[in-house]
Amino acid sequence: MPKSRTRFICQQCGGEQTKWLGRCPDCGAWNTLEEVALPETSSGGTASSPQRRYALLTGAAASAGASPAALLPQPLPQVKALSQERLSVGYAEMDRVLGGGLVPGSLTLVGGEPGIGKSTLLLQVSGYIAEHVGPVLYVSGEESSEQIKMRAERLEIRGERLYLLATVELEVICEAIARLKPALVVVDSIQTVFATHLTSAPGSISQVRECTLHLMQVAKSSHIPMFIIGHVTKEGTVAGPKALEHIADCVLYLEGERYHTYRLLRGVKNRFGATHEVGVFEMHGDGLQEVPNPSALFLSERPGAASGSAVVVSMEGTRPLLVEVQALVTPSNFGIARCTANGLEHNRLLMLLAVLTKRVGLALGNHDVYTNVVGGFTLEEPAVDLGVAAAIASSYRDRRIPADLALIGEVGLSGELRAVNRLGLRVREAAKLGFKRCLVPASGRAERLRRELEEAGLAEECRVIPASTLAVALEIALH
Ligand code: TYD
Ligand code: MG
Repeated sequence: MPKSRTRFICQQCGGEQTKWLGRCPDCGAWNTLEEVALPETSSGGTASSPQRRYALLTGAAASAGASPAALLPQPLPQVKALSQERLSVGYAEMDRVLGGGLVPGSLTLVGGEPGIGKSTLLLQVSGYIAEHVGPVLYVSGEESSEQIKMRAERLEIRGERLYLLATVELEVICEAIARLKPALVVVDSIQTVFATHLTSAPGSISQVRECTLHLMQVAKSSHIPMFIIGHVTKEGTVAGPKALEHIADCVLYLEGERYHTYRLLRGVKNRFGATHEVGVFEMHGDGLQEVPNPSALFLSERPGAASGSAVVVSMEGTRPLLVEVQALVTPSNFGIARCTANGLEHNRLLMLLAVLTKRVGLALGNHDVYTNVVGGFTLEEPAVDLGVAAAIASSYRDRRIPADLALIGEVGLSGELRAVNRLGLRVREAAKLGFKRCLVPASGRAERLRRELEEAGLAEECRVIPASTLAVALEIALH
């Protein structure tokens, strides 16, 4: 590694100092200066030159140090396009979240709470790549090679080309990459890795960021894709994934509920594809298995004859997902009404309660309202409004919503139903899962869709029922 110097960077304003100070002279914040290494470049210019720092931050680092010409502006046609080739990781669910597979030279951050299954998922991916593509370097700073072997045996990974390296030193990792030239590198986890030329402790912001920037440089210059695992605590704000999101090309989070076996792999950033894609996995005794049709799985636990249950169709990235929303409305004690939203936005729920009270005439003011999204999902789209409102009304009136009815629509403040995007895609997905009727906002699009389904001979299989207001929709759903 090149000789390096260090600087102290304020974690609040980004101001740079040559020595440690208790208080940042730029922004006045206390105790925010962290030591950061600035490697010297061989081609003149110090590491702290603006181009160099920018290149490091944006990941264009590979070319930054090598040739000064690379720092000059280039006309667009002369810029070499990235290879379109993508590497499948062996799981269609994960490939989709990555935007169609791994891009060579990309750095993907996989975050999640401890014990959620990050190491399991990436060991499985490593096993697949090692078997089908080429050597894989799996670096673990948390577990010994023997422990990983035990897990690999459980996952039935043979992996003659899967190389394990139990180390926490960045320099050792880089040397191993240079020697092995693997098809994939996994670093488990970034919080354990440290660069010896920095004095700060492993896991600190400066160590984590410096090591990630360096690995990014290695990935870019060698065209080797890399996965970096990062732990997130319940608060989600530790030195780790959150601080690295802007550096990595892709950021995926593995989420799930402790008492459920589902695991959701959620894409929150992707420089090579759409974000907000969700891949669904299930944790079994022999590792994570993908769930290609999650709607069917989530709906399979649906109680047959209970009031307060509605099925909504939410777009998760490019895929429509059918999810059950449950509501329980009970008279409140002591005159203080409570309202809980599990998996829904609290303010949106309050708005729906107000619309149900004022526009539909439900006397919800002296009732507790509990809502829950089944399967641990968080629904953020307004298109689920109708379903949520219907579930609440269903519980309040103690009338069941028919099991073959799916609800799609945004609710406006005057109680009107508003059109949603991708209506056709949503309705077709509901039809595929056996829903015979879809309640949708009345609009030109709904009419067109109805005609289209008729022409395709699908009108019998799934009927589109348009409604212009929430009150009308509830009449139909709860009659
Ligand atoms: P792990 O991948 O070690 O989590 P992380 O790396 O995110 O901290 O997963 C740990 C949990 O997964 C642990 O509670 C046991 C469970 N697990 C299974 O249920 N089946 C399996 O095949 C494996 C390997 C783990
Ligand atoms: Mg782990």
